[in-house]
Amino acid sequence: MGYVMGENRCEFQVGKAKLRLVQGDITEMETDAIVNAANPSLMGGGGVDGAIHRKGGPQILEECKRIRAREWPNGLPTGKAAITTGGKLKAKYVIHTVGPIWQGGNSGEAELLAEAYRNSLKLAVSKGLKTIAFPSISTGAYGYPIEKACRVALSTVKEFLEKEDKLDEVILVLFGRRDFEIYREAAKEVL
Ligand code: APR
Repeated sequence: MGYVMGENRCEFQVGKAKLRLVQGDITEMETDAIVNAANPSLMGGGGVDGAIHRKGGPQILEECKRIRAREWPNGLPTGKAAITTGGKLKAKYVIHTVGPIWQGGNSGEAELLAEAYRNSLKLAVSKGLKTIAFPSISTGAYGYPIEKACRVALSTVKEFLEKEDKLDEVILVLFGRRDFEIYREAAKEVL
């Protein structure tokens, strides 16, 4: 797999698309969509959820309330995805998804995490989007060990991009240096 390795970024060609790993703040990304690691309430939270709502402004929360009322009255289920405006963010859209809470690995966490990535990608394609950025879903407050989560993320995105040719670029945005390096090492094996 062709790749370009940099100090805090690396890039792989997967099918027709580019899969990039970057270290940074997902709220600064200029992709068509950025993915939010939300909770089922869609009413905001800490981590990347808090950062996106803070920077994106109240319009995002307003649309989340409508989504709750119209589509998901009992909350967005784990693994599902919903889309709102990007509000004041550089990204046009925010795709909200709920990753699994880590419970030791025997409660279907890996498949639920894969579903969160897959459904976010499917939603982006259904809206005709070309570029999308993900945080490391579930590896913060939800406690999913990053060494395991990164392989689920990378293999799910790879599998999707090998089948679906509508996306131009998928970027995995890692907040910390350690997270970036863990993803970069795993990518050399998975991609
Ligand atoms: N940009 C990119 N990544 C970020 C940012 C940011 N601005 N802020 C945090 N992260 C990273 C964290 O370092 C972690 O690696 O996002 C990853 C996911 O961490 P969380 O945001 O805690 O998300 P998650 O583990 O999925 O837990 C979701 O936390 O914030 C609440 O409302 C949210 O209840 C939900 C839970």
